[in-house]
Amino acid sequence: MADCKEPDPSAQRPASAKTWGGRFSKRAASQLESFSSSVHFDVALWREDVLGSIAHARMLGRQGIVSERESAELVRALEQVAREIEAGEMELDPALEDVHTNIERRVGEIAGAVAGKLHSGRSRNDQVATDLALWLRGAGTRVRSALARLREVLMQRAGREIDVVLPGYTHLQRAQPVRLAHHWLAYCEMLARDDARLRDAAARAESSPLGAGALAGSTLPLDRESTARELGFARPGRNSLDAVASRDAALELLSALSILMIHLSRLCEELVLWSSSEFGFVEMDDAFATGSSLMPQKKNPDVPELVRGKSGRVVGHLVSLLMTLKGLPLAYNRDLQEDKEPVFDAVGTVEGCLEILAPAIETLRIDAERMAAAAADPMLLATDLADHLVGEGMPFREAHEIVGRVVAHCLEARVPLDRLSRAELSEFHPALDLDPASFFSVERSLEARRVPGGPARAAVEDSLSRAREELARTRAELEEK
Ligand code: ARG
Repeated sequence: MADCKEPDPSAQRPASAKTWGGRFSKRAASQLESFSSSVHFDVALWREDVLGSIAHARMLGRQGIVSERESAELVRALEQVAREIEAGEMELDPALEDVHTNIERRVGEIAGAVAGKLHSGRSRNDQVATDLALWLRGAGTRVRSALARLREVLMQRAGREIDVVLPGYTHLQRAQPVRLAHHWLAYCEMLARDDARLRDAAARAESSPLGAGALAGSTLPLDRESTARELGFARPGRNSLDAVASRDAALELLSALSILMIHLSRLCEELVLWSSSEFGFVEMDDAFATGSSLMPQKKNPDVPELVRGKSGRVVGHLVSLLMTLKGLPLAYNRDLQEDKEPVFDAVGTVEGCLEILAPAIETLRIDAERMAAAAADPMLLATDLADHLVGEGMPFREAHEIVGRVVAHCLEARVPLDRLSRAELSEFHPALDLDPASFFSVERSLEARRVPGGPARAAVEDSLSRAREELARTRAELEEK
């Protein structure tokens, strides 16, 4: 197709919300301009938009839809726009609706009439879907890197705190002793699965919407394979309606982020509890705690509280996008513009939480003595006593009953379980003829729990080294990106 020789005055007219082409005889009402404008948030997509447009312009040149010279002019102008936005030199006009029209308008100012050819065979519908898919991939990688840092901090603590013992809880009642390392590693497991979910979500953004047009592709000979490849997608989307209308990759990212935030919220709830005088297990470093405006003695765990609070916000964003999509007929509907703010805010919020939690947990001071004292109650070893009877051949239900009677007796007589003599124990059952001093040792109990995944030293060391291997794999994957 021919070079643009005679500038077409209508092509030079800047794209503007005021002039949606010849179809319209009036400019948009000012209320409509401000109501529908998205540039104040979709400016976050400017890099992706420029990349997508460059890929499109190059393809137009290769396919002869524009001349090679025109293609090069478009690419040059787009690169200049990128430099200008980067340097904060480009003013974005809300009246032009979104970042995509703003960029196209600026290309027109730089390159002249040829800018009118950039949108050949393209719609903002496939353009915006492409930009978002690119953005999602980048965001997934950024969150995974921040998450890797937190996983590392937890693993470092686990490596150091294998000898610190605290009660494990069920129903927030002291249940059985565990190693603090085991507790940290429980979160490492959750966070490793979160990482896998984030990776999967990114894999769902692997089809390129570009070339799907408004909804039904194009009559122009577009090469969708080449733009997909250039933009790092695995393939062009197989269905043009799906390509412009679907946002499930964004939903999947939001859902992975929501689950991650729920995990962080549970961890933070424990930090809040453990910081209380009632527990006294941990103290936040001064750099990550705040005081009260009224009570001079207070030191508050605001960081974990805020993370806990922000988890609701991220889950809210997931629900918001689900509701935006519910009941939308195919293909593009303007409702879809509402996809961006939840996604952008969720990603920013999660990144912020991870970035502060890593150093806040790294610098956390623990009171190992208080933890050990809380774990020292011999009642926490009542299950061990029942297990001992099972080892002697007794059915567990019967063992549970007998040890229950021992416990009831101790509560009634106000005697700690480990203060019963060998003879007193044997009275409950002859098989309880054991040495209380050695039996009621937390260390013995922990080491007896050497099933895989349990709190015995070897089992904890084993799960720590697996967690480290997994983290190394994540890091290697992220380095490739
Ligand atoms: N700003 C719009 C969005 O984010 C771009 C697509 C507009 N398309 C349209 N047909 N009005 O979804």
